[in-house]
Amino acid sequence: MDHFQYRDDALWAEDVPLAAIAERFGTPCYVYSRATLERHWHAFDQAFREHPHLICFAVKANSNLAVLDVLARLGAGFDIVSVGELERVLAAGGDPARVIFSGVGKREDEMRRALEVGIRGFNVESEAELVRLDRVAREMGRIAPVSLRVNPDVDARTHPYIATGLKENKFGISIQDAETVYRHAAALPGLQVTGIDCHIGSQLTELAPFVDALQRVLALARRLAALGIEITHLDLGGGLGIRYVDESPPEPADYASVIRQHLADLPFEVLLEPGRAIAGNAGVLLTRVEYLKPTAHKQFAILDAAMNDLLRPALYQARQAIVPVRRTAHEPSAVYDLVGPVCETGDFLGKERALALAPGDLLAVRGSGAYGFVMSSNYNSRPRAAEVMVDGAEAHLVRRRESLTDLFAGENRLP
Ligand code: LLP
Repeated sequence: MDHFQYRDDALWAEDVPLAAIAERFGTPCYVYSRATLERHWHAFDQAFREHPHLICFAVKANSNLAVLDVLARLGAGFDIVSVGELERVLAAGGDPARVIFSGVGKREDEMRRALEVGIRGFNVESEAELVRLDRVAREMGRIAPVSLRVNPDVDARTHPYIATGLKENKFGISIQDAETVYRHAAALPGLQVTGIDCHIGSQLTELAPFVDALQRVLALARRLAALGIEITHLDLGGGLGIRYVDESPPEPADYASVIRQHLADLPFEVLLEPGRAIAGNAGVLLTRVEYLKPTAHKQFAILDAAMNDLLRPALYQARQAIVPVRRTAHEPSAVYDLVGPVCETGDFLGKERALALAPGDLLAVRGSGAYGFVMSSNYNSRPRAAEVMVDGAEAHLVRRRESLTDLFAGENRLP
């Protein structure tokens, strides 16, 4: 459930009509709902109830400071993949002791900063990284808490670009090699082994791959215990899917319940790194129809938002619902390809959508709260969109629209 609902024929975000937001802040514009973010975070947090757990929002999904702020106030943890994300979490009031650092390519300066602020732990993805982290920690007189990200080789049955848990993917340490690498980690004086981590992919719409991965991770935990390596937490990554159009992914409660069932009374604390399931349906991209362009083959609606604003359709052929901000009584007037002004054939936000459209109409691209603004660019010298957070009857500008001079503010002509 989210807080983007029609009242009569107008689409609202909580208690604010989206048309009023477009009027005040212009388009294209990302609009987030605080109540929805909170609801989704609580759905995960409450699903584990008394079982020790920490829900670490995957910052890559939406790193706007206001989004992180909303979650930090709930006591969220954060899963980061760069020092940039770490600085955002700190600037938003997040607790470094609840930060987990994932990612295959951590630089030395990133490790140093994370150790300096005292993050909760590192998810280490290779033996070379382990050696580097040990050295950096010792140089700083610190002990780095580590989990190894293991690659359990399960098929997440999702888009190949967002499946990460197969043996041919670049992520993690093969689960067959894990004991050797754990033994190495346990022998390094700058490290303290605390957990096992895995993340098998994103936008999963079934529970079976999660269960598969969990069973492999639990078997590894048993083998490690036999070697005298006791771990205290399991980080099961993110990946729970959402409904974009007609998918029916499991609810966080169903997901948590199978995890708890498999854990039974094992003492492991559970860490999760959900991104999309928290932020995805907590945001829409508001856009206006610039032109209708009928051709002999197709009807195009040319929008003021493009692939530089929302890349998912172009990059993954992702389908997201696109709905009118004001519903009309008219039957759909045509089947449109909804495209942007960027000079690429791949620049579309939706294909073959039956809608009743006129120039100037506002549309909302649903499911845009995760992997939306964060993946946007300035391609075609298009300033990035504004971001707005709705909180009840208030709408706050949480990132101003880039200006034309912002576009080249960091650039220089030759002397
Ligand atoms: N943890 C790790 C280590 C990850 O790599 C990811 C996502 C997450 C957690 C969060 O996954 P989520 O719960 O959001 O599925 N840009 C793509 C998605 C890329 C996901 C990358 N990793 C998209 O727009 O569909």
